[in-house]
Amino acid sequence: MALGWVAKQVRDLKDQHLYNNIVTVDSPIGSEMVVNGKKVLNFCSNNYLGLANHPKLKEGAVNAIKKFGVGPAAVRTIAGTTSLHKKLEEKLAKFKKTEAVITLQSGFTANLAVIPALVGEGDLIFSDELNHASIIDGCRLSRAEVIRYAHLDTKDLEEKLKTSKKGVKKLVITDGVFSMDGDIAPLDKIYDVSSKYDAILMVDDAHGEGVLGTSGRGIVDHFKLHGKVDIEVGTMSKAFGVVGGMVAGRTEIIEWLSQRARPFLFSSAMTLPDVGACLAAVELLEKSGKLVEKLWDNANYLRSGLKKLGFDTGTSITPIIPLMLGDSKLAQDFSKELFNEGLFAKAITYPTVAQGKARIRIMNSAGHTQKQLDRALQIFAKVGKKLKVI
Ligand SMILES: Cc1ncc(COP(=O)(O)O)c(C=O)c1O
Repeated sequence: MALGWVAKQVRDLKDQHLYNNIVTVDSPIGSEMVVNGKKVLNFCSNNYLGLANHPKLKEGAVNAIKKFGVGPAAVRTIAGTTSLHKKLEEKLAKFKKTEAVITLQSGFTANLAVIPALVGEGDLIFSDELNHASIIDGCRLSRAEVIRYAHLDTKDLEEKLKTSKKGVKKLVITDGVFSMDGDIAPLDKIYDVSSKYDAILMVDDAHGEGVLGTSGRGIVDHFKLHGKVDIEVGTMSKAFGVVGGMVAGRTEIIEWLSQRARPFLFSSAMTLPDVGACLAAVELLEKSGKLVEKLWDNANYLRSGLKKLGFDTGTSITPIIPLMLGDSKLAQDFSKELFNEGLFAKAITYPTVAQGKARIRIMNSAGHTQKQLDRALQIFAKVGKKLKVI
């Protein structure tokens, strides 16, 4: 049988403690959720600002459905684009203080859209070695040569740029906030090096959107690099609490993407309720940065509590906090014990992170209350002692 090997591969994953058990959620996404029938504290979702079930976003989605229906029913270049999609793109551009924005179906597709539209065979991409899978796939699709530089290492990046082929297009790509470690790319230094060697600069700010910068305007705002970073990819699937990708940049680049980016040309647009909800999310952030402040207060409180307990939280300086455990079986056992105690936080193992770097990834949210954070610290302490991690 041609596909006989598949069942064996799945069995092997289970034997090696690398199998991903996908749990069932039976409640809205919030600081507490019903997971596999049990009410637990949620430290797993990318719901940084607690917007996934926010009344204003639900209202935005419902109003969009009432006016426009549900789906766009074709790609935008063929069947037209709704005024709601245009409104969202204009609002996002203003919010991010950039000339223009184009939206796509997700952050993943945004990376697949941009990279092959900018570079091709014979060109060079300089990519942080820990960049997200969607960047890696976008690079592969482009057929450009990929040169990986050491994580966050601008000296290594410069060395590689300096000694690379001349007379071809060069694209430097980095994640903004790294999704598994919670550290931040030194974008100011990366900009200095990229501009010195005349390279295009692209940042994927999936985990910085709604988290970094004034009122969550993202990493470019955080480093005050407006107008300097060529491409800012973002997602509305995390802090915005919805689903959707975006690319922000100069008008001519965004226009080029509307003509050549394949996921824009050959796949339907964001759905109308998603667009309506995203509009409401931007409006909330424009009005107030309170949720972003609460997110950071919560994250700092939890991180310092975990450190005091003796946990290794790696290099995280953002609301993504890894509990570094190393061994994948230990990470999976840790996650199970947390769940038994009423806390949902997933084990992250190979291939999402390197072999031997398994961890529990703790995702903070502005939605957590002080009481929930204290309860979480008690649970982490209990499980950490039981499994002899602390
Ligand atoms: C850095 C980065 N880029 C892109 C994505 C994909 O975003 P989306 O879920 O909107 O497809 C993610 C999500 O995990 C991410 O962490």
